Amino acid sequence: MFLDCFEPAKIDTWVRRGVISGVTTNPALISHEKAPFSMKERIDKICKLVNGPVAVEVTAREHESIVAQAREFHSWNPGQIVIKVPVDMTGYAVISELERKYSIPTMATCIMTFTQGYGAALAGAHYLALFWGRMKEAGISPEEAVMLLLERIEREKLRSRILAASLRGGHHVFEALAAGAHIVTVSPRTLEQVLAHPKTDEAIAEFAEDWRCARERGLMG
Ligand code: G3P
Repeated sequence: MFLDCFEPAKIDTWVRRGVISGVTTNPALISHEKAPFSMKERIDKICKLVNGPVAVEVTAREHESIVAQAREFHSWNPGQIVIKVPVDMTGYAVISELERKYSIPTMATCIMTFTQGYGAALAGAHYLALFWGRMKEAGISPEEAVMLLLERIEREKLRSRILAASLRGGHHVFEALAAGAHIVTVSPRTLEQVLAHPKTDEAIAEFAEDWRCARERGLMG
């Protein structure tokens, strides 16, 4: 699982819990910051916290400037940084150039359909970020897209891995994993929901009470 997060303290907490092997960021998460910060320093910090890929999204709009921005971001930590590129008509060409000319790993993002994902996979993207929640809102089946993409990836020996993003709650995390997405990127809040359960808390409280009673009765030496 990856963490969809830009806050080092939360990333640190989840890495320590041992369930996070990568981080995804995006301009929306960055815009929630309350004070000025250095993007390079923040990404450096995140890279030090997580032992795995850290996805940073390009914001430029023209091909040459996107490639320049991507190369700059990637130079901050070539071993970990993956460049997120939205899949508009400029995006496919950028993905192809970054992957094939510069060997920079990319994450095709804002994918809403199977065919966009397939196009990004053909362009060479390492990761295909399917926007689960937004697909559902648009009446598109992400489950079907995952199934068809897995089939093409296998049949054509493509290297792309499917990452389910835009997960609106625990039910989406379940659906994405059940559909066969290789990775889910989850917000800290949703991760709290999926890794906890009231019945678990109930069982823990019950056992604690049983233990207390057993001690009180002097059952243990
Ligand atoms: O990081 C990409 C994704 O998780 C964003 O989701 O909430 O903007 O649809 P959302």
